[in-house]
Amino acid sequence: MAKKFDVVVIGAGPGGYIAAIRVAQLGQSVACIDAWSTPEGKPAPGGTCTNVGCIPSKALLQSSEHYHQVKNTFAEHGISAKDVQLDLDKLLGRKDKVVSQNNDGILYLFKKNKVKFFHGTGSFVSQVDGGWSLRVDGPDKADLVARHVIIATGSSPRALPDLPFDEDRILSNDGALRIPDVPGKLGVIGAGAIGLEMASVWSRLGSKVTMLEALPDFLANVDQQTAKETRKALTAHGLTIHTGVKTGTVAPKKKTVSVPYTDADGKEHTLSVDRLIVSIGRVPNTDGLGADTVGLKLDERGFVAVNNDCRTNLNNVWAVGDVVRGPMLAHKAEVEGVAVAEIIAGQHGHVDYHLIPSVIYTSPEVAWVGQTEQQLKADGHDYRAGSFPFMANGRARALGDTTGFVKVLADSKTDEVLGVHIVGPQASEIIDEAAAIMAFRGAAEDIARICHAHPTLSESMKEAALAVDGRTLNF
Ligand code: NAI
Repeated sequence: MAKKFDVVVIGAGPGGYIAAIRVAQLGQSVACIDAWSTPEGKPAPGGTCTNVGCIPSKALLQSSEHYHQVKNTFAEHGISAKDVQLDLDKLLGRKDKVVSQNNDGILYLFKKNKVKFFHGTGSFVSQVDGGWSLRVDGPDKADLVARHVIIATGSSPRALPDLPFDEDRILSNDGALRIPDVPGKLGVIGAGAIGLEMASVWSRLGSKVTMLEALPDFLANVDQQTAKETRKALTAHGLTIHTGVKTGTVAPKKKTVSVPYTDADGKEHTLSVDRLIVSIGRVPNTDGLGADTVGLKLDERGFVAVNNDCRTNLNNVWAVGDVVRGPMLAHKAEVEGVAVAEIIAGQHGHVDYHLIPSVIYTSPEVAWVGQTEQQLKADGHDYRAGSFPFMANGRARALGDTTGFVKVLADSKTDEVLGVHIVGPQASEIIDEAAAIMAFRGAAEDIARICHAHPTLSESMKEAALAVDGRTLNF
């Protein structure tokens, strides 16, 4: 006998589990299905973000930053540390603990909000009277019927043709988080968010990292002044970054990997590394969902096709997160999940896709929201730019980290903030002020008039806003 729910969510990543909780808050009966398991076979909800993405990468970035600082910057604070040892097993073990705390946290939230969790793979069986029939295969095998279905099945790493991930020599984001020894030489194909974050971790732990990026511009979608400053800082920290390269056929051997490539000037090289991370984007997870069985429409790139409200072509079937168009970001998935839950409950859920901040957690961090200078120029939009360097910020000097700047772009006539771009310490924590101001369609003058606590890094935002009008106080 099938169990009946108002809503069944397939996938418990940030899109799915947040949607399930919001639906439950709004008084609907809800089930969430997720197949991810710990090595011991226990449920591991949280998706890519929790298990092999945002959370473990930030744990490793923190640990590797500590190690790097104790070896490289403590001395200037008058602290000497001799005989510093790296216990990689312990470092990786701590990361695993952080992940399992997050898995358990989600299971607790499901209980608290009366979300029924099914551990297994969810798929469509057919359309039935009153909704959709679904099957759960796995430890919690079951038949379910749902009035509404939310697909939140996420994405998987894209492999190079004929070079499958073995997670030993050829690593995806997953293997890159659990390399058992610090590689002497590490190669990275693709200098996007994953490549840069993983390159930072292993470089701080001692690897000599070489990155090969196909596009001629570094971080091509990022504001180019910000991208240039980032490249300069990362290169100074020891990363070797080649852009505009074309890689040939990669040959994994027993202990090494050789990567032939042609550089931007047409010269041929072979990079020999101990391990290779391939981080060239991700593909949506739609296999095994039963899309064909029920006629669920996919777009030409294999994403579940949705309208602006995340509705699919099927009645009362919705899709959110990495499996649909838009940036593959946990917080984008979350806001879509909340919006869909509210629409299902008869409210007016909505996502403002122009106001989704982006962060790359390198050192320095890079964060931005809204439009870049190159986009504004291409649109012929009249704007004024104001920037402020962290070099002139007292808190940054006290921290000993003065790389980078904050840049505010505002409409020439109305002064409305159109974009904010930050490279520098704690950029991830500063960018939300920009998103908040932009959500209220605030002006640079509004930021400039807000009393910012002193001494803080976020005073640089205020100073950059003042710079839009040519009146910084501290630079
Ligand atoms: P990405 O799309 O960010 O970067 C992939 C890079 O690989 C691009 O620069 C692309 O030009 C390059 N590339 C593609 N094919 C190539 C080839 N054959 N040879 C050399 N370079 C090639 O994808 P990534 O880093 O794999 O991340 C996947 C998704 O996860 C992204 O959407 C990203 O935004 C998201 N993510 C977000 C994070 C964050 O918010 N901090 C952290 C990690 C991932």
